Amino acid sequence: MSNEPEVDYGPLAGLIGVWKGDKGLDVAPEPDGSENNPYHETITFTAIGDVTNAESQVLSVLHYRQIVQRKSDNDVFHDETGYWMWDPRTGTIMHSLVIPRAVCVLAGGKYDGAKNESGDVVLEVAANVDDSDWKIIQSSFMQENARTTSFRHRITVGNGKLSYSETTMLDIYGKVFEHTDDNELLLQ
Ligand code: HEM
Repeated sequence: MSNEPEVDYGPLAGLIGVWKGDKGLDVAPEPDGSENNPYHETITFTAIGDVTNAESQVLSVLHYRQIVQRKSDNDVFHDETGYWMWDPRTGTIMHSLVIPRAVCVLAGGKYDGAKNESGDVVLEVAANVDDSDWKIIQSSFMQENARTTSFRHRITVGNGKLSYSETTMLDIYGKVFEHTDDNELLLQ
């Protein structure tokens, strides 16, 4: 692993830093419907260098930590960590994440230089329990009672602003539930 300053983080470069945002909205499952949780959060992306796999694949890697607090009581109600990885040879972005519910995701997507009308970078990754490459791993309890079946994550980043939209599909309480999280953050 090398963290020489010349590592090229490609489309991930704009994520590096500490971000804070207080416009978060979480829609989460409840036995009798759903709950809406307005939140604020801090996401810290740290450049950790590049890594070589099988002496041929070179990935540029960021580590991140996301701490989410309910606005109503400041309780941390979501704590997530993982890596964002960029493979310039194939134009692939990979996002690994773990949450302390015994659920892990490896999501992936292609980056083809996509930018929005403001010139911001748009990153999109997805995973599905049935996908051959980008998968979800979860405990047997979660598989039986609160199964994550798919995950989509879209980040737009540029000019000191980051916004994201995340959809996690769940099989829970005998129904299919669309668990969503969105926020807008500023670079500190
Ligand atoms: C900002 C991001 C997120 C927030 C704020 C959040 C928040 C929540 C909340 C409040 C619940 C309901 C918990 C309860 O009723 O006790 C929940 C449930 C759940 N979340 Fe998230 N979540 C986020 C992202 C994710 C992600 C990325 C995944 C997985 C890929 C995930 C998987 C789950 C699962 C499996 C449940 C069902 C457990 C249950 O309700 O008992 N969540 N989440």
